[in-house]
Amino acid sequence: MPRLAQTVRVVGCGATKLGNRLGRSAGSLMAEAVQGALSSARLELDDLDGLIAVPSMSDPHLMEAHYLATKIGLLPKKNFLVRTIDTGGAGPVTALLEGRRMIEAENCQAVVIAAGDAVSSLSTEEFLRRADAGIGCDRLPSPAIPNGYGLITDWHAKTYGVTREQLAKVPCLMSHQASKHPHAITRRRYTVEEVLESPQITPQLNLLECARRMDGAGAIIVASSRFLEKRGLLNKGNHGNGDVVILSGGEASGPLSPPVVIDETMFSCEQAAQSAYYEAQVRPDEIDFFGLYDCFPICFLRAIEAVGICPKGQGGRWIDEQYERILADENYVLPVNTHGGLLSFGAPWEAPAIFAVIEAVRQLNGVAGAQQVAEDCRRALVYGNGGIFSSSAVAILSKPI
Ligand code: CAA
Repeated sequence: MPRLAQTVRVVGCGATKLGNRLGRSAGSLMAEAVQGALSSARLELDDLDGLIAVPSMSDPHLMEAHYLATKIGLLPKKNFLVRTIDTGGAGPVTALLEGRRMIEAENCQAVVIAAGDAVSSLSTEEFLRRADAGIGCDRLPSPAIPNGYGLITDWHAKTYGVTREQLAKVPCLMSHQASKHPHAITRRRYTVEEVLESPQITPQLNLLECARRMDGAGAIIVASSRFLEKRGLLNKGNHGNGDVVILSGGEASGPLSPPVVIDETMFSCEQAAQSAYYEAQVRPDEIDFFGLYDCFPICFLRAIEAVGICPKGQGGRWIDEQYERILADENYVLPVNTHGGLLSFGAPWEAPAIFAVIEAVRQLNGVAGAQQVAEDCRRALVYGNGGIFSSSAVAILSKPI
């Protein structure tokens, strides 16, 4: 385990309201989230010596992080590190791990990470023009991203036998979680029939099985224990309930679009999760909360197997069991995505994994109320996925050591 002076902690979180067509730029949403994170950490702008940003699709800039740092008055500044990270939807988790490296290896003391977008303010045509071009694969008809995930859904169903109904239960589980979260966009629980009757988007996917396009932003601040101790802020961070330590992380990559022959080698979450477990020296059953990427049901299914919630090939059965439990008890809390994930909390393009991190901090600080997964939530795992299984980043967070 790292010594106190070396630990890197998440000390502040901020988020804007999520909404449809908020009529604000991604930059202004990110700036508001940064202010929220600073006040929750009880830090000033001047305390920061690093900023990492994830690029937006709706209002892209050359070097997003430099743009944001300039906009909020952090640049020009001496001895200040600024980085834009683009690993797609894995970005916020990659950025969390990069923030840790900046503190451990580059002498930073406090780094802010921001991610946000306003993709629901784009027309569907413009959103799909940009999203399709980003994937750049002629074999995938528009919408390219849902169609890419659709191909993988077919492959997974043939290989492991997951059924159409099991996949349609994933948005039901996520809406069950979101309906109880104060900031989630989805307020109502869906039934499997409703999901199967929602408009078809690809042969394998309906509308309620697609990441819910949204406007909004989140920000988190990571800082060294030494800096916090000097400032008298150690264990007095987010909501006054204690800081959260970044225990470990892992990353891995796959192709930008599905290869002609799909097989296990294209996936990378397994490797990222194994690296994170190995570095932390913890097992899946020692994790109390999982914040998993669920842009489409197949992504959620692959994730629960990759992080060891259930054995390989058993994800469909696990989903059936959880679905039975939410039908039997509307107060049941799944230890996964208590905010509702991309399907039901809301998904501003590359930003949504930042909400999983914020939810993990809420759980670890024990302030999740009726959604608290365990009285003493000790460890949380967060997973971000970029592109079509093209990039995976996993981090394990814990209560202070
Ligand atoms: N749950 C509930 N409601 C949903 C929903 C969901 N999961 N998804 C959409 N809706 C709602 C919308 O909010 C909208 O409601 P209003 O009419 O009240 O505004 C309504 O259903 C219609 O939705 P859209 O306006 O989006 O419908 P559309 O026909 O214009 O577009 C679509 C349909 C092409 C499938 C589009 O929704 C879409 O492309 N969705 C997927 C977005 C996507 O690909 N995100 C990236 C995922 S991959 C990833 O995250 C990795 C990365 O690296 C970025």
